[in-house]
Amino acid sequence: MNIKENILNLFLDTRKHTEALCKPLQKEDYVVQPIVDVSPPKWHLGHTTWFFEEFLLDGHLPGYKRFHSQYAYVFNSYYESIGARVVRTDRGNLSRPSVDEVYEYRAHVTKHMAQLIELHWDEDLIPVLEIGIHHEKQHQELLLTDIKYILGNNPLSPVYGNIEDEVFINNKIHKWLEMPAQIYEVGHSEETFCYDNEQPRHRVFLEAYQISSELVTCGEWINFINDGGYSNVMLWHTEGWDWVQKNNICAPMYWFEENNQWNQYTLNGIAGIDKSSAITHVSYYEAFAFAQWKGMRLPTEFEWEAAQQKFSWGEKDGNGQKAPTYLTLITKNLMVP
Ligand SMILES: [Fe+2]
Repeated sequence: MNIKENILNLFLDTRKHTEALCKPLQKEDYVVQPIVDVSPPKWHLGHTTWFFEEFLLDGHLPGYKRFHSQYAYVFNSYYESIGARVVRTDRGNLSRPSVDEVYEYRAHVTKHMAQLIELHWDEDLIPVLEIGIHHEKQHQELLLTDIKYILGNNPLSPVYGNIEDEVFINNKIHKWLEMPAQIYEVGHSEETFCYDNEQPRHRVFLEAYQISSELVTCGEWINFINDGGYSNVMLWHTEGWDWVQKNNICAPMYWFEENNQWNQYTLNGIAGIDKSSAITHVSYYEAFAFAQWKGMRLPTEFEWEAAQQKFSWGEKDGNGQKAPTYLTLITKNLMVP
């Protein structure tokens, strides 16, 4: 398969996958914005489409006509150079365009993008095409995150659908991995796509440290809660303590206690907490406090990256899939003061 076919397939698969993620939604789910940080699914669908129209179709596909003259205003996110846009806080106020119109917009842009790639192929477009595709993949993660927030904060706790491995199971035996003091290389080194903030590859010197071979589990987190972790001011950053107080935080997001039992909202519905599963949905403030409680600290970005080159946290038996990177790790600090 040549590069043109590869990119066309990747583009079409990515477009299809985004729409598949939205399939379990009801029309009403597409529109709400319960907090500023959560964008309505309809907006994600339109915004990822606008990117291709704005940066590829307009100006590169001969005779291309924009689907709607005002969609650039509606679906631009923060690209200052492109012009004005609906402010982020108002995304949930957009009852129009309708969900059906947004899907028509997607079909229009997907069709014309396929024409651009097939009939007007130009290798100079590859970098923007790659960014557009990976931009949409990033929004797929955001979509799932935002859909979970929308459904998980609804009093009816609606079930999104059967999604595999939402909570990663981690049941291996923990040990401390020794990382000697030396120069390590960090940053993206392969020919594959990466964002500019992953480059350049460069060297960093790290003092010796030990890092856990396994991820922090929900069972450990319950111990932290039972030991008063959320009410011990000494464990928290000032700002974190403020956040805990103002928002009455007493457990990870989506957790709730019923009959002395911890449960959580998952995309598959309400479920009990599996103590051996890795903790998810905790903020930096919570991770910091947890590390303080353990008498340890969080790894720096470079410590994490250096260690992950040698070890695969939470690698699943058999299929070699790595754990998502949002899970917490705790490092023993061996740095000499
Ligand atoms: Fe975006």
